[in-house]
Amino acid sequence: MTKNLNYPMWMLLLIMLVGHPLLSQAQNKRGAIGKNGMVVTAHPDATKIGVDILKKGGNAYDAAAAVQFALAVCYPVAGNLGGGGFLVYRHNDGTIGALDYREKAPAKAHRDMYLDKSGKVIKNLSRNGHLSAGVPGSVDAMVKMHKRFGKLPFKDVIQPSIDLAKKGVVLTAREARNFNSYRNAFFDHNTTPPYPLVKNDKTPFKAGEVTKYPYLAQTLERIRDNGRDGFYAGKTADLIVKEMQAGGGIISKEDLKNYQSVWRIPVVGYYKGYKVISMCPPSAGGIVLMQMLKMIEPYDLKKMNWHSPKAVQLMVEAERRAYADRAKYLGDSDYYPVPLHNLLDPAYLKKRMKDFSFAKAGSSKTTKEGNWGTESEETTHFSIVDKKGNAVSITTTLNSGFGSKVMVAGAGFLLNNEMDDFSAKPGVPNIYGLVGAEANAIAPGKRMLSSMTPTIVEKDGKLKMVVGTPGGSTITTSVFQVILNVLEYDMTMYNAVNAPRFHHQWLPDEVFVENKALNQKTRQTLRKLGYSIRPRPPIGKVDAILVLPNGSLEGGADQRGDDTAKGY
Ligand code: DON
Repeated sequence: MTKNLNYPMWMLLLIMLVGHPLLSQAQNKRGAIGKNGMVVTAHPDATKIGVDILKKGGNAYDAAAAVQFALAVCYPVAGNLGGGGFLVYRHNDGTIGALDYREKAPAKAHRDMYLDKSGKVIKNLSRNGHLSAGVPGSVDAMVKMHKRFGKLPFKDVIQPSIDLAKKGVVLTAREARNFNSYRNAFFDHNTTPPYPLVKNDKTPFKAGEVTKYPYLAQTLERIRDNGRDGFYAGKTADLIVKEMQAGGGIISKEDLKNYQSVWRIPVVGYYKGYKVISMCPPSAGGIVLMQMLKMIEPYDLKKMNWHSPKAVQLMVEAERRAYADRAKYLGDSDYYPVPLHNLLDPAYLKKRMKDFSFAKAGSSKTTKEGNWGTESEETTHFSIVDKKGNAVSITTTLNSGFGSKVMVAGAGFLLNNEMDDFSAKPGVPNIYGLVGAEANAIAPGKRMLSSMTPTIVEKDGKLKMVVGTPGGSTITTSVFQVILNVLEYDMTMYNAVNAPRFHHQWLPDEVFVENKALNQKTRQTLRKLGYSIRPRPPIGKVDAILVLPNGSLEGGADQRGDDTAKGY
């Protein structure tokens, strides 16, 4: 608190009772406010492009397509043409839906493709290089979504990204650091140097430097002029297949031609009167989120103070149980009979918490999946609400930072390394430490299991919140915490997004904590109960929107990144 303040006694008493005005201002800090629309993304240029589209009369879907293409230019660490993602939407009339544009295993993929002769996983094969790439879904999805729901002509939606790629992107300090730290990886995994992500003269990138993407601009122009065929056929497809042949990859022309994103029915659940709408398989996100919410619903979380040992314990134990189920039962439901109804059955979830006790830590040795019978981490999420109240929640990714690190020579975009999200071998952890089983084994054409959790929350039939984040296995627990920060602890969207976070994923049996999460006393109490507390770097970058009681929109942009919220 500020020193040397001479307050009269009555004011000191008031401060003790209701808090210092400066403090409460900080505690209630609001993000950007918009009356007519809001865009929150990982990059200021993408946010601006999205808001400009809304101002031009575009709807949330026009803005979403514009943002997806813009992020492919200004945020290449995760924004993409060569990756995939999930869209969850809610029209202003309450209709909901989802678009699954997860990458697919190429036709030549097979169950043991990342194992050596002795059956051991060859770790880096699924994580870097040509063989780690799944068939991309982002372009198909944006064209499909725009065709169905967009209002402005497609060319108007994609043109700002073409212009940005030609004019160049001003690097932020964080991006310059990123490019520099990946330099060797870029050279290791490309047959042609992936300009402009590396420089010929070997000098480091600096903040403020302008990077132009001429090949990417040409690819975007082909998409502008030919729609999905501008990517999955013609010159772009030729360049992708040529790149595969040069680097030993297996994506073929047929794979590209056959790729289709799929409309799906989102997972819907209820938490204390709020309707929560989130992504269904092949993402584990929605199911795991609903399971966790339902498991903690019987408790008065609000009464337990925020991040108190009890509150953390309750949430961690719900996380442990939900992630154990994820490892066993979740995968692409087009290929594996995911027992969705059993996993979401309230009676099952009640039973799942029966052995929970505040008296001591649970254990992942004894807690297995129930019966009724897992990244550098880079993905990106954006949230958009337009003037009419249409809401779009999109999480899109190349998987780890810059995906496979492979840039399609002559086409200027990076390919994902999403194949690592499959379970290369039962029980062997992926980049995020997540283990899987048969449900998530590799098969041709199958989609790999995801943690991405684009989510929309509704109250009394009205839009309340749009939320999501990157962070690999930590995605779902971050969304879980941000939702609870608002619904249970009345935080502003800005504070809810920026509050410190923790994470548990069943295996390893540890509570991961950000630096500022859980004070020393809480950590000590939890350790005494038997929890292992493991500090780790920042968890996620949540970009979210909250509808305020007066109908205005508050954008919460995560200060862990260059994320920006802008309303109008
Ligand atoms: O789909 C998934 O769950 C992962 N490929 C997401 C990767 C991710 O979030 C990395 N970012 N921070």
